[in-house]
Amino acid sequence: MNEMQAQETRTIVGLSERARVMQASPLRKLAALAEQRKKTGIKVFHLNIGQPDLPTAPAVFEAMRGFDQKTLAYAPSNGLPVAINAWKNYLGHHGIHFEESELIVTAGGSEALIFAMCAVADAGEEVVVFEPFYTNYNGFATIANVRLVPVPLSIENGFHLPPEDIIERAITSRTRAILFCNPSNPTGTIYGRDEVERLVRLALKHNLYIISDEVYREFAYDADAISIMGFPEVADRAILCDSSSKRFNVCGARIGVLASHHKGVVETALKFGMARLSVATVEQVAIAPLLNDPEPYVRPIVEEFRHRRDVVVEGLRTIPGVTSYKPEGAFYIVIGLPVKDAEHFARWLINDFELNGETVLLAPAAGFYATPGQGANEARLAFMLKASELKRSIDIVHAALGSYAKGHH
Ligand SMILES: Cc1ncc(COP(=O)(O)O)c(C=O)c1O
Repeated sequence: MNEMQAQETRTIVGLSERARVMQASPLRKLAALAEQRKKTGIKVFHLNIGQPDLPTAPAVFEAMRGFDQKTLAYAPSNGLPVAINAWKNYLGHHGIHFEESELIVTAGGSEALIFAMCAVADAGEEVVVFEPFYTNYNGFATIANVRLVPVPLSIENGFHLPPEDIIERAITSRTRAILFCNPSNPTGTIYGRDEVERLVRLALKHNLYIISDEVYREFAYDADAISIMGFPEVADRAILCDSSSKRFNVCGARIGVLASHHKGVVETALKFGMARLSVATVEQVAIAPLLNDPEPYVRPIVEEFRHRRDVVVEGLRTIPGVTSYKPEGAFYIVIGLPVKDAEHFARWLINDFELNGETVLLAPAAGFYATPGQGANEARLAFMLKASELKRSIDIVHAALGSYAKGHH
């Protein structure tokens, strides 16, 4: 191929519209700056990322080492029987009852969410979400070619749901589902029974599916997070997306589940599953014991995160001008900063500020909003450091805000 032909090929073979709109993860936007800063000898506390820092249960690695098949074969597309049965047991342990035929093991909660969107909505149809929301919902929606329609939440009430009529305004003739995450990433909010009931009523009134992302189920510090499956009136239209990633500190295992009593949804998810053949075999085997007996591992982890949450909330209260609240669950909080542009502040903080040789990487919250301009002065903090380090990080943010306000930037 000569150069002219090569040039032509480049222009003729363009990329899809989907390729154009697909976002790169805004969570990692500032990570390169942190790496540069570390090279100058400054210690960086990462408050920006949701990767659990606690050790995985040794039993998981033992099970991997003990895997004794001669061939590493595909698992069945709906999952290995041992993994399906383990998910059934795990959910049953939380009072959520499914038949094995109603479960599809997925590559993390992520694949369950993509399968759910693809199963219920056609190109251009809409899914209502609450913003700020888990930023990869944007990516899932782009893959599925559906449009997310955000309902804004407010930091003033700890990002709890607005009244039913406000939510209803986001519903159009193209809406196919309401997607929500309880407990929530990025806000840590747990929606109470009356809030979930609003969604249940709206789903019934407008004939919508409810896609419920419950990957943080156990991370509930003040009261249990109720599952969508606790509302029998929507049992026929609820799709539960769940994951072993967070509660077992096994993000790299990529084992989640899609669960629904809706036969068509499960059959469709299975067909999607057949197209990608299988989820990793060894990991399904390795996770099963934890799913079968989750409490001994999960309970201390949750207590650790409760302690971290308390340390963060306490620390934030001492910083003048910071708006915060007490997140009831997950391991995140979105805070309001006394600055116009949280991204500018976060860049300055990671590039130029230090306190005793240490600084902090924050995630500007604008990336968690779909509406342009929303969350401009907000940042998300993740509690992936030891409590003592979280405390130091908050002190650094405190000092940095003082310095920033004085115009030292
Ligand atoms: C709200 C929420 N849903 C789903 C996921 C997907 O995680 P995974 O695919 O590892 O299960 C995450 C991960 O951060 C998340 O925060």
